[in-house]
Amino acid sequence: LRIGFATSQAFANLTNDDRLAVAELAKRDVEVVPFVWDAPSDALSAVDAVVLRSCWDYHEKTVAFARFLEKTSASTVPLFNSPRIASWNLDKQYLFDLERRGARIPKTVWINRGSTGTLDEVIAQNGLDEVVVKPAVGMLGIDTWRASPGKKQEPFAALVRERAVLVQEFLPDVLTLGEISLVFLGGRFSHAVQKTPARGGEEFRIHEEHGGTRRAIQPSASWLAQAAAILDLVGEPLLYARVDAIPVNDTLVLMELELIDPALFLAYDPIAPGRFADAVVDFARAQ
Ligand SMILES: Nc1ncnc2c1ncn2[C@@H]1O[C@H](COP(=O)(O)OP(=O)(O)OP(=O)(O)O)[C@@H](O)[C@H]1O
Ligand SMILES: [Mg+2]
Repeated sequence: LRIGFATSQAFANLTNDDRLAVAELAKRDVEVVPFVWDAPSDALSAVDAVVLRSCWDYHEKTVAFARFLEKTSASTVPLFNSPRIASWNLDKQYLFDLERRGARIPKTVWINRGSTGTLDEVIAQNGLDEVVVKPAVGMLGIDTWRASPGKKQEPFAALVRERAVLVQEFLPDVLTLGEISLVFLGGRFSHAVQKTPARGGEEFRIHEEHGGTRRAIQPSASWLAQAAAILDLVGEPLLYARVDAIPVNDTLVLMELELIDPALFLAYDPIAPGRFADAVVDFARAQ
């Protein structure tokens, strides 16, 4: 088997995480061909399947990335996760779909690009107080900030001029419990990581890039069942999935269901890279 790993220019040689998977795939006689998703190439003609990996610039090139998904979908080469699921997962609008199907999400208001209402109006009209503002297509907590009445009026107006935006109830538990990532490989739970923000400051984003820390954790049976129930709402088998949630009174409140190119935190569980490799082989063979 030859598997294409779609990545971005900045990670043309893949991430450490991806390389753990490559090594395990090699043990299974599978060759991995990394290719930059928006570089001119005929990578698709040379592989049996494509796995979306570190395409971590699609938030800046959303239209081109959507076209790449379409192009792959129209080819005979299977893409994981499927182009349909990846397209749906591009825009945080999908959170409302999952909420309608029964997932718990923070109270969230969708703001169309070009809307003229002020942030204070949005907060007041929706009975909010402390909020998080974030772009509908985003990653790494870029352009994501906390706000409260009277604050951030100008940055909000500027952001809404450029893009669709979510205004979300701020969940204070992120400051103590952080955010839990539950990683599923080949449809089965594999491992979990707790991500907490830098302490003692204003920071509420959990990314290491913003001073956050991560550690492997053993999730409770209740968390596992809740995460599995969220995945069931997707209605399609998934090669990989990361359920990112903030536990509030032991209920997982969904921050993101990452189905495009999440870091899979494979280094946090010695068995995880092999599990991922097995899942890739199973999915590619099943096509
Ligand atoms: N409603 C909220 N309440 C508390 N913290 C939040 C909230 N929304 C976002 N955050 C914090 O900001 C971080 C980034 O938000 P989110 O994961 O929604 O966006 P993202 O930029 O797509 O992130 P990622 O890099 O994980 O793709 C979260 O991991 C969390 O730490
Ligand atoms: Mg996130």
